Amino acid sequence: MNAFLGGFLLIEFCGVVGVITGHYCGNRIALGIGLIVIVYGILQTIGHFLGVYVIPENRVAKAARIADLLDLSGNERILDVGTGRGLHAIEFAKRLTTGKVVAIDIWHEHLRSTLKHYDFTSHTLGHSLQRTLENAEIEQVAHKVSFRNMDANDLQFDENFFDVAICGYILQHLHAGGRRRGDEQKLCCMKKIYKILKPEGRVVIFEAVHKGFTNFLAFTPFVYLFSRWLTEDYWRQILQNAGFKIEYTEVSQGNVVLVGRKQKGHRGIPNFGRLLSWDVLLVPSI
Ligand SMILES: C[S@@+](CC[C@H](N)C(=O)[O-])C[C@H]1O[C@@H](n2cnc3c(N)ncnc32)[C@H](O)[C@@H]1O
Repeated sequence: MNAFLGGFLLIEFCGVVGVITGHYCGNRIALGIGLIVIVYGILQTIGHFLGVYVIPENRVAKAARIADLLDLSGNERILDVGTGRGLHAIEFAKRLTTGKVVAIDIWHEHLRSTLKHYDFTSHTLGHSLQRTLENAEIEQVAHKVSFRNMDANDLQFDENFFDVAICGYILQHLHAGGRRRGDEQKLCCMKKIYKILKPEGRVVIFEAVHKGFTNFLAFTPFVYLFSRWLTEDYWRQILQNAGFKIEYTEVSQGNVVLVGRKQKGHRGIPNFGRLLSWDVLLVPSI
């Protein structure tokens, strides 16, 4: 269950309260509004399921398809930013032989609570480091993936370290509030990723674009109407402004996939603070 479904449950609760109040107080308006709210909540929940889980391509199949598209040699170092339950980390790890994946997220409650701009709508209920580790074990790639609690706004790795970075539905959650939610956080994260990638390293982003019928169903008419600026061009600009050359764009059913490459000889981006040492890949998990 995610934050949207939690919201829909709240809508249902309000509808039920309206119906009960209307019934016991003999107030037909409250009763009618309560019923409308209940019907809306049910339709929106069905729409959310259809728009997020049914109509778009199956997420595991898509992760596998994009991993294949990258044509990995097997010895890459890969970073999965905001791995959640490890979907992309695991799928990419399956294609590695001597390579390793480092997957970061902020599973620890106390770490989340210290972050000024943590977007709680990004945290799908049931996410935990334990579950993510179990997923990697079930898929028999646990020895190739190292999971770490780390804030995507404060990536602590050496420069020129990774061959590939994956950002699966995390950039939308890096923001500083407001309606446009501040693009600087996303750009700042991408610039940092640019630095920690090797020359010619690639970044893959999976994101939502708020246009089209699928997202109208999935994200309530209100979210849909107020976030029409969230297009594939928006995401392309974030990547390009960070210095990446875009090599691949795919848009389907309210989702975009972009692959950007760090250009060889590009003069780079200003320094971004502390960096971790090379031992990060030697630690199997935390
Ligand atoms: C929508 S989920 C996507 C999970 C996974 N990448 C996928 O595609 O299935 C977004 C994830 O980003 C994580 N996240 C949000 N803000 C973060 C931050 N500042 N640093 C690290 N992870 C973050 C959340 O905890 C959540 O697991």
